[in-house]
Amino acid sequence: MQAVAQRVALVTGSARGLGLACARRLASEGVRVHATYRSPTPESEALEREFPGRVHAADLERAEDWKRVVDAVLASEGRLDHLVHAVGEYVRAPLHATGAANLRRLLSNNVESAFHGIEATRAALRSSRGSVVLFGCAGVETTRARREAAAYVAAKSALVVLARSWALEEAPHGVRINVVAPGVVPHEHASADTLDPSLWQRVPMGRPGEPREVADAVAFLCSSSSSYVTGTVLEVAGGWLL
Ligand SMILES: NC(=O)c1ccc[n+]([C@@H]2O[C@H](COP(=O)([O-])OP(=O)(O)OC[C@H]3O[C@@H](n4cnc5c(N)ncnc54)[C@H](OP(=O)(O)O)[C@@H]3O)[C@@H](O)[C@H]2O)c1
Repeated sequence: MQAVAQRVALVTGSARGLGLACARRLASEGVRVHATYRSPTPESEALEREFPGRVHAADLERAEDWKRVVDAVLASEGRLDHLVHAVGEYVRAPLHATGAANLRRLLSNNVESAFHGIEATRAALRSSRGSVVLFGCAGVETTRARREAAAYVAAKSALVVLARSWALEEAPHGVRINVVAPGVVPHEHASADTLDPSLWQRVPMGRPGEPREVADAVAFLCSSSSSYVTGTVLEVAGGWLL
């Protein structure tokens, strides 16, 4: 009987927070995980110990960094089954105080980085008939106004349109592309907003989410249990904005 090949995942933004939870969750299922970080920190050093030889420093707003990382994964593993792209900066400000520089930064960090990622992984994912998970935010499918983070949500909304369009293009090749949309998910390095108990009270389920709950959704979207799911936005938000 032919052995089933071990799945290989590239999880970006994985030195901390939701990316780290996803990397650990997939690894716990036997997936061979490659991780990335941008800034050298104690967390990125810990990542090296957890995923030895499979951690890549990269600024993923740069196409050349994506190519280098994906080439390295393919050189060592010979395949790539999943891309989980957890990079995505947040700016809390009303529009009048956002500034064009922040808008550009959010678009580059949330949208352009994903664009480069899909370009860099397309051929490998077609070969493995693999899958991609991108990160939106709760309520991203609506076009309602936002008082405090309009530029961030605008960037995430653009990402959803691209994700769905990529899903359409890649479906004939057997590649699935989905978005998870977390609500309020505090962690050690999360934005201070997520630590605000008055925000937690606005969540219909009455509590913030946990990184592992987002990672569970990502694991589902990477698994054969979701083999007919593509182009969706899966909210993991305790009913936020219902
Ligand atoms: N946590 C939440 O409540 C929440 C809610 C809704 C949506 N989300 C989304 O979920 C995703 C993960 O959230 P999180 O809270 O885990 O985020 P996070 O704590 O900000 O972590 C993101 C990671 O991505 C890295 N990164 C940022 N820009 C990068 C770049 N250009 N190249 C390479 N790496 C880069 C960061 O590295 P550095 O150390 O260099 O900054 C950081 O390690 C994001 O897309 C976020 O927008 C989170």
